[in-house]
Amino acid sequence: MFKFTAKALACALSLTIAGMAQAAEPIVIKFSHVVAEHTPKGQGALLFKKLAEERLGDKVKVEVYPNSSLFGDGKEMEALLLGDVQLIAPSLAKFEHYTKQIQVFDLPFLFKDMAALDRFQQSAEGQALLKSMEDKNITGLGYWHNGLKQLSANKPLREPKDARGLKFRVQPSAVLEEQFKAVRANPRKMSFAEVYQGLQTGVVNGAENPYSNIYSQKMHEVQKYITESNHGALDYMLITNTKFWNGLPEDVRGELDKIIVEVTAEVNKQAGALNDDAKQRIIDAKTSEIITLTPEQRDMWRDAMKPVWAKFEGEIGADLIKAADAANQ
Ligand code: LMR
Repeated sequence: MFKFTAKALACALSLTIAGMAQAAEPIVIKFSHVVAEHTPKGQGALLFKKLAEERLGDKVKVEVYPNSSLFGDGKEMEALLLGDVQLIAPSLAKFEHYTKQIQVFDLPFLFKDMAALDRFQQSAEGQALLKSMEDKNITGLGYWHNGLKQLSANKPLREPKDARGLKFRVQPSAVLEEQFKAVRANPRKMSFAEVYQGLQTGVVNGAENPYSNIYSQKMHEVQKYITESNHGALDYMLITNTKFWNGLPEDVRGELDKIIVEVTAEVNKQAGALNDDAKQRIIDAKTSEIITLTPEQRDMWRDAMKPVWAKFEGEIGADLIKAADAANQ
């Protein structure tokens, strides 16, 4: 009898110790992304790590994997759903398999500037999109800015006809494919990590990205011309695995939620300056010419690309497009 009790006690004790050891293990949050560190998203990921580890001490360990070093953009969403990473911030052009509504962000010439885009993101409709994929186990935690996209190519693009027949790399977005087809160019989907080589070897002749991505991926070294078209936005949704997030201890989740609000504000405040800085560095590098469009030329691009809206109205919803457009006022 005694023997049994002692054994049971020892067993219970060892279980308790194991439990304590387990409780002391930090929660590991892997944050994977595809861009360089000196970009809005790269800086945001590092700031999140810093604040989370400072404020949550041993409870949380954040591992940041930049530059597609853990998962490229073709795999990161799958990895999030499998629990192999806990935070990612794909561009809003990379969600069409999960919700068609988010395609609204890709419509060319929809937002007149980043302030309009921000207003839409903060509106009831924009906030609802953050929760629109929870049935697929994806929770949006916030919108992070990068900036407006510029067209780049190996020839000067001043009018839509200049793009005719050129091969443009696009993100995996049906809207962006149609945008280039609208100017009779050939879109080609390609992951972000492959763009530099694609441009260098001539697999594609042009691309579109904000200055921060163009500079940090050295695209300006393999593109002779950059047209400051500001024809669309490249922003991000910071997302997590819903089950993982809801399963976090309440105190940890509460603190992380607060940190994310803070980091989001900081990313969105700094994004413009990071893009301006990248533009200046491109000018200084003298490898490519930046083309400024006249208002008439810009109107030509807008007129050529805007019919794309109607093609996606059914999938996105006319009301949502209207709400986004209303943010311009
Ligand atoms: C791209 O694929 O061009 C961008 O989405 C990369 C990024 O994350 O900024």
